[in-house]
Amino acid sequence: MTDSIASHIRDLITAIRRHDYNYHVLDTPTIGDSQYDELTRELKQLELEHPEFLDPNSPTQRVGAKPDSGFDEVTHRVSMLSIDNVFDLDEFRQFGERIKDRLHQADIPQMTAEPKLDGLALSIRYEQGQLVLAATRGDGQTGENVTQNVRTIRSIPLILKGSHFPEVLEIRGEVIMKKADFVAMNRRLSEASEKVFVNPRNAAAGSLRQLDPSIVSTRPLSFYAYGLGEVSEPLGDTHTEVMDALRQLGIPVNPGLITGEAEAIEKAYDSLMAERDALPYEIDGMVVKVDSIALQNALGFVARAPRFATAWKFPAQEASTRLVAIDLQVGRTGAITPVARLEPIFLGGVTVSNATLHNFDEVARLDVRPGDQVMVRRAGDVIPQIVKVIADRRPDSSKPIAIPSVCPVCQSSVERADGEAVIRCSGGLICQAQRLEHLKHFASRKAMDIDGVGERLLEILIEKEWVTTPADLYRLSADSLQGLDRMGAKSARNVIHSITTSKQTTFARFLYALGIRDVGEATARTLAASFGDLGRLIEASHEDLMNVDDVGPIVASHIRSFFEVDRHRSIIQELIDLGVQWPDVTASAPRNGPDLSGQTWVLTGTLESMTRDEASEKLRVLGAKVSGSVSAKTSVLVAGPGAGSKLTKAESLGVDVIDEATLTALFGEL
Ligand code: IVH
Repeated sequence: MTDSIASHIRDLITAIRRHDYNYHVLDTPTIGDSQYDELTRELKQLELEHPEFLDPNSPTQRVGAKPDSGFDEVTHRVSMLSIDNVFDLDEFRQFGERIKDRLHQADIPQMTAEPKLDGLALSIRYEQGQLVLAATRGDGQTGENVTQNVRTIRSIPLILKGSHFPEVLEIRGEVIMKKADFVAMNRRLSEASEKVFVNPRNAAAGSLRQLDPSIVSTRPLSFYAYGLGEVSEPLGDTHTEVMDALRQLGIPVNPGLITGEAEAIEKAYDSLMAERDALPYEIDGMVVKVDSIALQNALGFVARAPRFATAWKFPAQEASTRLVAIDLQVGRTGAITPVARLEPIFLGGVTVSNATLHNFDEVARLDVRPGDQVMVRRAGDVIPQIVKVIADRRPDSSKPIAIPSVCPVCQSSVERADGEAVIRCSGGLICQAQRLEHLKHFASRKAMDIDGVGERLLEILIEKEWVTTPADLYRLSADSLQGLDRMGAKSARNVIHSITTSKQTTFARFLYALGIRDVGEATARTLAASFGDLGRLIEASHEDLMNVDDVGPIVASHIRSFFEVDRHRSIIQELIDLGVQWPDVTASAPRNGPDLSGQTWVLTGTLESMTRDEASEKLRVLGAKVSGSVSAKTSVLVAGPGAGSKLTKAESLGVDVIDEATLTALFGEL
C-alpha cells in the first residue's frame, strides 16, 4: 500500500513537471488549467497525509520560508562578465575585423546572434541534476543568494530533465518580465494602491530582490539561458550546441538564436530591430558571439568583458520632452485615468505624444505637473510611460493638478473607495464613456434578462445612437432592428419579444439592473425586501439604508448618490412610463401572508411551480431571511424532490421541514 502511494506521488510529480515544462518552456500546454490544478491538489493532499514521502524537489515545494534578514553573499566560481557594446554597422564590422586579426585567420569565423534581453543576469547552479543555488550578478565576483526566490520561477526546473548531465552545471541567463505580464502586474498593483514599476526590467529586478518568496511567487518572472558558468564537463563544441544541450535538459533558452557568417548576422540585426515591438519581451540589442568554444577561449578577455562577444545596441527607448497637459480619460467602467499630453517626440521608432500616468497616486508620487520636462519611455506596444520629472527644469509658475471632483464626460460626482487608487465617475447610467458596460449589465440574465441583447447588438445600437439609456431599449421596434448585423425579420421579432417580456420583472431585478455601485444581486434583494417600494427607497436616508442587513456606510452612500442624480431618477421614470413593472409587494405582504420576520428559511431540492429565486424573493417579502445552509438557527427547510444532505441535517437538528405544496399555500395570493 505505502509502496503504491509512494509511486503514485512520484508519478504525479513527473506529470506535473512535464506539464510545467510544456507550459512554461515550450509554451504549448497539453492539458487545461483545471486538470493541472486537480493534479496539484491531489499531490498536495497525498504529501500532507504522507509527509514521509515529501520530496524537497516536488513542484509543491517551490515557495519556501522568508529569510530573517537580507540575502547571503555568494562568490561566483567563474566570474559573471560584462560585455562590450557597438552602436552601428561600422563598429560592428570593426569587431569582426579585430577577431579575424587576433585569430590570424583569413575570414571572420562563424558567429551566433541572439536577442539581448533587458532584465538582470542570473546564475543557476545544478549539482547532480538538482537546483542548488541561484545568484545575482552583483559586481561580477560576488552576488546575492536568491535561491528561494528563483525556485518560485516555474520555467526553471528544480530537477534537470533526462539522465545525462554534468555533475556541476552552472547556467547563466537573464531574468525578465514579459511585456504583457508587466502590464497586467502593474494594473494589479495600481488597483491595490501599491507602487507600480516603471519598466519590465525594474519590475523583474525588484521582484527578484523581494525578501518574501511567497510574494515573488505571485510575480510573473521568466528566465532564458544564454551561457554557462562553472561546468564539470563540456556540453558542446559551439555556443549553438551548448544552447541545444541546455534545451534538452529542460532549461528555457534564449529564443531566436541564429548561427551564420558575418553577413547573415548583419541581416539578422535589421530583422530583429523590425520585430522588436512585436516580441513578447523587451530587448535592448542583439548579442553576437563567436560560435566555436575553442575560438572563444583562444580570444580570451579584456578587462571584464570577453573578446568573443559584443552587444550591438538598439536606439534608446527613453528620452526627455515637455509635458504640455494632463488630461482625464474615463474608461468603460468609470475609472478616471490621468493621461500626459506630450510635445511629440521620436522614440524607439515612433512618434510619442501621450503617456499613461496610471492614477492620481502616481501623479503625486512623480510630482508631475503641466509644463514639466519629463523622461519618457516607450517600449514596444506598451503604452509610453513617464519615468521621472527633470526637477531642475521645472518652470517657476508650475502648479500641481487637482484631483477632479466631477467626471469630465458627464459631470457626475467622482468617488474614490477607501484604499483604492482609482477614482471613478458615479454617473454609470448617464455617462457616455460607460454606456456599453451599463447597458450590457442592464440586459444581462440576472438583471432584466433580455435575451438576444448582448454586447454585439448593443455596440451597434450605441454606434447608431439609437440607444443611449436603458429606456431607449424599450423604444426599439422590430422594423428598425431588421437588417442590422444581418438580423432577419424573425430574430428582430424575437429580440423585441424579449425586450417586451422583460418589462414584467421584480423589484430586486430592477434595482440590480440599475447598476448602482456595489449593489449586487444579494444586496438588491435585501433592499427590495426591506423597502418593498421604489419611492421609499429613493427617499431613504443614509441611516435608513444602514439599518438594512449587509448595507454598510459605503454602499449606503453609493445608493444615496445614485438617487440624488436627477437624470437617474428621470430615466427610472421613463422606464416605468414605458411599462417596466413589478408586483407591488408592499400592498400584499402584510395583508396576504404570514409575518416571517426573524425567521431563517432554507430551500433545497427542486421546486416545480416556481424557481428558487422566486421562492426566496417571496419569503424575503414576508420578512424571512433566506440562507444557503442548514444550522440550528434554521426555522424551516423547504425540501423538494432530490433533497439530500440538507434534509438529513435538518431532520437530525429537529428543524421543521415542509414541501412545495405547503409553501405555495403559505404564499397564497402573493
Ligand atoms: S552574454 C560573457 N547574451 O547583458 C558574456 N548577455 O550588458 C555574457 N544579456 O550581463 C553575456 N541578453 O545580463 C549575453 N543573449 C545574451 C544576453 C545577455 C542579455 C545581458 C547579461 C549581461 C549584460 C551585458
